[in-house]
Amino acid sequence: MTRVEFNLDGRPVSVTADPATPLLYVLRNDLKLNNPHFGCGLAQCGACTVHLAGAPVRSCSVPLGSVAGQPVTTLRGLGTPEKPHPVQQAYVLEQVPQCGYCVNGWIMTAAALLRDKPHASESEIREGLAGLKCRCGTHLSILRAVRRAQELMHRAEAPDSAPEALAQTGKPT
Ligand code: FES
Ligand code: FES
Repeated sequence: MTRVEFNLDGRPVSVTADPATPLLYVLRNDLKLNNPHFGCGLAQCGACTVHLAGAPVRSCSVPLGSVAGQPVTTLRGLGTPEKPHPVQQAYVLEQVPQCGYCVNGWIMTAAALLRDKPHASESEIREGLAGLKCRCGTHLSILRAVRRAQELMHRAEAPDSAPEALAQTGKPT
């Protein structure tokens, strides 16, 4: 057992555990977070995705010891109900989730993708999201939501944008 300290969603945390323990287990079992989900446990579905030092990683396959001293961001830290991340907002506007089990992975991955490539093309979005799984088959809705999130982000950056623009529920023009 080793004491491992890292930053979780902007706050310092300390966990005493076997450093080989998957980060996902620590987040869910020790730190009581329920956003990163256990899907495959083999880094193949993406349901467990978090950001480690800004990069999306499959937390089921990241050993606790490797995150010592690093910032970890989960879906909880991406946005709040009062100020959701544009991808979270777009997910609601496009009514994407069915069972919702996969949502964490898609949103965390898409948020990192759009941060790094705000003007990502359709093919870059598809490529960036490849490897994530949705057993409910919401993939087309997810693509719509990512494009919607792009538009929300660009509107927010526009010099004459008003905060209420982000609250519009109509389809993007
Ligand atoms: S549970 Fe981690 S990738 Fe599937
Ligand atoms: S919404 Fe059910 S697995 Fe994706």
